[in-house]
Amino acid sequence: MRIESTVRGVRAFVDAARREGRSVGLVPTMGAFHAGHLSLMRRAVADNDVTVVSLFVNPTQFGPQEDFSQYPRDLEGDAQKAREAGVSLIFAPSEEEMYPPGACTWVTVDRLTEGLCGRYRPGHFRGVTTVVTKLLNVVQPDRAYFGEKDYQQLQVIRRMVRDLLIPVEIIAQPTVREPDGLAMSSRNAYLSPEERQAAVRLPQALQAAADLVRQGATGADAVRRALELLQSEPLLRPQYVEAVDPETLEDRSASGAPLVLAAAVMVGKTRLIDNIRVNG
Ligand code: PAF
Repeated sequence: MRIESTVRGVRAFVDAARREGRSVGLVPTMGAFHAGHLSLMRRAVADNDVTVVSLFVNPTQFGPQEDFSQYPRDLEGDAQKAREAGVSLIFAPSEEEMYPPGACTWVTVDRLTEGLCGRYRPGHFRGVTTVVTKLLNVVQPDRAYFGEKDYQQLQVIRRMVRDLLIPVEIIAQPTVREPDGLAMSSRNAYLSPEERQAAVRLPQALQAAADLVRQGATGADAVRRALELLQSEPLLRPQYVEAVDPETLEDRSASGAPLVLAAAVMVGKTRLIDNIRVNG
């Protein structure tokens, strides 16, 4: 497995693979690999001849009060895990490589970025869509892989690729969970033992709310139930629970399935998100 830090190095590697008629998969990440990342990598390795993993803690998607400087970084450990998963190349660029001095061009997706996390993290999705566009331009993969845990991000990227006619297939992988149901996240590492115990209430609340919808309740009933359960755990401070359309992310509180129940909670200083899809 190679590690490249320059756009030029990645392009040379991918061009050589292309000349040999090989297909290319891209897994964009910010590192601190857990089982969720590894499931994306394994799927990419199974689907493609060559798998590139980008590892870049993207400063433009963090707000001024957010955890950019504390975000876990472990290139050596991550490289070991990626190698074991069968990855061909890690692209670990510097900030200057991704944002050349004076960079002032942004990619924005309207509407889908306004609700849910977009309301609590202004500028976040502009940072995500800009960096993902750059990564797609550098690697020009046949397929790119994203986790369903970041459901809004996944739908925003799907829409961006469609609207900008970017020739890549976006492939989603299901959320990977701890045995007690907590979604895997690099941010779980910030939780104290008490917070970690409380955090399991997030998937439990969404599951209970989803069961209500399956029994015929509306999105609004489900949201109320989830909020009750979240608020009864003193260590959790819910930011939102919403019932939304799986594709447009528009409000679906007045209707039943199909919908996605999505939530964000603060546990101490850590922000956790999760979602559950209820099919029709
Ligand atoms: O999901 C992430 O890890 C990041 O938002 C992404 C897609 C790698 C962009 O920085």
